Amino acid sequence: MTKTNSSIFRFAIIFMLILQIRIQLSDESEFFVDRSKAGLTHVPKDVSPKTTILDISQNYISELRTSDILSLSKLRILIISHNRIQYLDISVFKFNPELEYLDLSHNKLGKISCHPTVNLKHLDLSFNAFDALPICEEFGNMSQLEFLGLSATQLQKSSVLPIAHLHISKVLLVLGDPYGEKEDSESLQDLNTESLHIVFPTGKEFHFILDVSISTAVNLELSNIKCVLDDNGCSYFLNVLSKLQKNPRLSSLTLNNIETAWDSFIMILQLVWHTSIEYFSIKNVKLQGYLGFRDFDYSNTSLKALSIQQVVSDVFSFPQSSIYKIFSNMNIQNFTVSGTHMVHMLCPSQTSPFLYLDFSNNLLTDTLFRDCGKLTQLETLNLKMNQLKELANIVHMTKEMKSLQQLDISQNFLRYDENEGNCSWTRSLLSLNMSSNILTDSVFSSYHKLKTLMALRTYLEWPKEKSKHGLFWANLRAAINIKLMEQSK
Ligand SMILES: *[C@@H]1O[C@H](CO)[C@@H](O)[C@H](O)[C@H]1NC(C)=O
Ligand SMILES: *[C@@H]1O[C@H](CO)[C@@H](O)[C@H](O)[C@H]1NC(C)=O
Ligand SMILES: *[C@@H]1O[C@H](CO)[C@@H](O)[C@H](O)[C@H]1NC(C)=O
Ligand SMILES: *[C@@H]1O[C@H](CO)[C@@H](O)[C@H](O)[C@H]1NC(C)=O
Ligand SMILES: *[C@@H]1O[C@H](CO)[C@@H](O)[C@H](O)[C@H]1NC(C)=O
Repeated sequence: MTKTNSSIFRFAIIFMLILQIRIQLSDESEFFVDRSKAGLTHVPKDVSPKTTILDISQNYISELRTSDILSLSKLRILIISHNRIQYLDISVFKFNPELEYLDLSHNKLGKISCHPTVNLKHLDLSFNAFDALPICEEFGNMSQLEFLGLSATQLQKSSVLPIAHLHISKVLLVLGDPYGEKEDSESLQDLNTESLHIVFPTGKEFHFILDVSISTAVNLELSNIKCVLDDNGCSYFLNVLSKLQKNPRLSSLTLNNIETAWDSFIMILQLVWHTSIEYFSIKNVKLQGYLGFRDFDYSNTSLKALSIQQVVSDVFSFPQSSIYKIFSNMNIQNFTVSGTHMVHMLCPSQTSPFLYLDFSNNLLTDTLFRDCGKLTQLETLNLKMNQLKELANIVHMTKEMKSLQQLDISQNFLRYDENEGNCSWTRSLLSLNMSSNILTDSVFSSYHKLKTLMALRTYLEWPKEKSKHGLFWANLRAAINIKLMEQSK
């Protein structure tokens, strides 16, 4: 998980907790003690016995003993994530009969001792140092378990058996770095969960054979897919995906942090197109190489919504029209492509079923789809863009263009006019020597991008109060990361 992801995740948990607390506060039964990020090396001794929620996350706590929490007989929620605990004896909770939410994620746990704990609904042991899956026989009695977070560096079919009869809503499985040396592709088959999220080792080439097509799963999320060295075009991952066809219940698939080649990326889309998946979401993508793939088979899809967000790519080194062609002819209702450097999109070649298009935060302008009569059912087209980002893009573009020797760009390409009531960017001059035969694809693409940007009129609001002017400049500078005044001189 990336830092952003984990902080979003943390935020979500805290938000959920606050929500829970607020609900509970109304019946005045909750007592929340927050000692997170307090530099603690031990569980604090001065916690009121009335405490029902204790947050001691992000400290330096290295052990948890019965005496630490003995007096907290009303404790319902214990958050002790991001600490340094290496060993846990689950019997330490024997005097906390109300405990139902236990977050021990992001510690250094390598071993746990088992003890019956039947009331837990949420147990998070993810992002720890376990070799084998930390599943005790006693977990089989946790019939109320809704969330189970696990981590391991090796998987064995037998480790899953104690919980095979439970119906867990969500299982998070984090595979630690050495994972993959010896794999049993069948090891997760007995897992009984509606949502499964598997986090593969970061930075490791995807050479895994793990079968993730759990028959009970409706939602599947896979994080950290890197296949850049695979000469067979991401073959291991495509093989893992192809097994998803076995599970007709699967309706949503999310891929996070994926690094691959353009061709493999389109092949992933093509594979998913012929599964039972209805909602497909891809976040944080890094793409390289050229696109050779041409004939996308749109037939027989269950897909309703595809979302592709945050793409970094060397897109300007080859003609992008083939990508736009594949995208624009997708036979789905909802399509999101956001946070990419996409400069254009084609009009579909036949009447399109698109209802909702979210193309926000790209380099598109509102002239998109002008005179395109094929989008007869379209209800929403979102082209919104963060203004500062837009400016940053313009400035970035200028630099990029300047580095292309083939182009002759006037020094005053971008002019800033402070006398306006706003910050107005105007093109002063662009002279491109179109007659030269050095207009490579890459130059052409940049030129097109630039032309698109020229059509934009980007304004930043100039604060009326003089006291805010400094802040305005600081923000602007930070956003575009260059000294504007120098640029315009
Ligand atoms: C746990 O489950 C087993 C088998 O279902 C049962 O025999 C045992 O009594 C249970 N233990 C507790 C503490 O509920
Ligand atoms: C699409 O589905 C139909 C009917 O279910 C089937 O006859 C046809 O072979 C399928 N085509 C493809 C390309 O899977
Ligand atoms: C499509 O997006 C709209 C707007 O976010 C949403 O209301 C609708 O439920 C989505 N439809 C599908 C099939 O995802
Ligand atoms: C900003 O400046 C432009 C260019 O002079 C002008 O057309 C526009 O009306 C101004 N916008 C505002 C909100 O003042
Ligand atoms: C444009 O390119 C042609 C051919 O390369 C060259 O002869 C001409 O001088 C160029 N014009 C300008 C203004 O750079």
